[in-house]
Amino acid sequence: MLMSIALALHVLSIVVWVGGMFFAHQALRPAAVSVLEPPTRLRLWRATFQRFFPWVWLSIVLVLASGLWMMMQFPKPPIFVHVMLGLGVIMMLIFMHVFFAPYGRLKKAVATENWKEGGKALGQIRMLVGLNLSIGLITVIVGTAGKFFI
Ligand code: HEM
Repeated sequence: MLMSIALALHVLSIVVWVGGMFFAHQALRPAAVSVLEPPTRLRLWRATFQRFFPWVWLSIVLVLASGLWMMMQFPKPPIFVHVMLGLGVIMMLIFMHVFFAPYGRLKKAVATENWKEGGKALGQIRMLVGLNLSIGLITVIVGTAGKFFI
């Protein structure tokens, strides 16, 4: 029973976090570039992150708590679980860097209407979210198909 709750919370959190990154990076980003001028585009991203990032923090807490708890149920956790933990921790550190460094600069740039700095910060966020999305998709494969290979 507890195991099914932990697994459900784990997978739902991953769907929200990785799915959100996929939508932002693959759909909203190119659409915003093609239809919005920089000031509006930067304001849109600032408002979008403000709504999405609290969900990412919640996902991180739930993924880590449920993942570590499930890990403790194994007498000896399989290798793919260790790989999942390693990749998951890297994703969390990348997100925290985005949150505290370039997102902080983006907020400041939008508040002071400094569009050049805002563009630079957004470019960094885009690169790091692209990286985290790639690691996230690989980690989903490791978490689901890993048991058949390792
Ligand atoms: C950060 C620490 C993490 C830990 C300690 C952890 C641990 C675990 C454990 C123990 C399971 C159950 C495996 C089983 O019973 O076969 C699991 C399942 C899963 N994990 Fe993680 N995980 C973590 C992060 C992640 C991340 C970041 C992702 C994806 C981006 C992910 C995706 C999955 C998926 C999709 C499953 C479901 C596997 C299935 O039932 O088919 N996990 N995780």
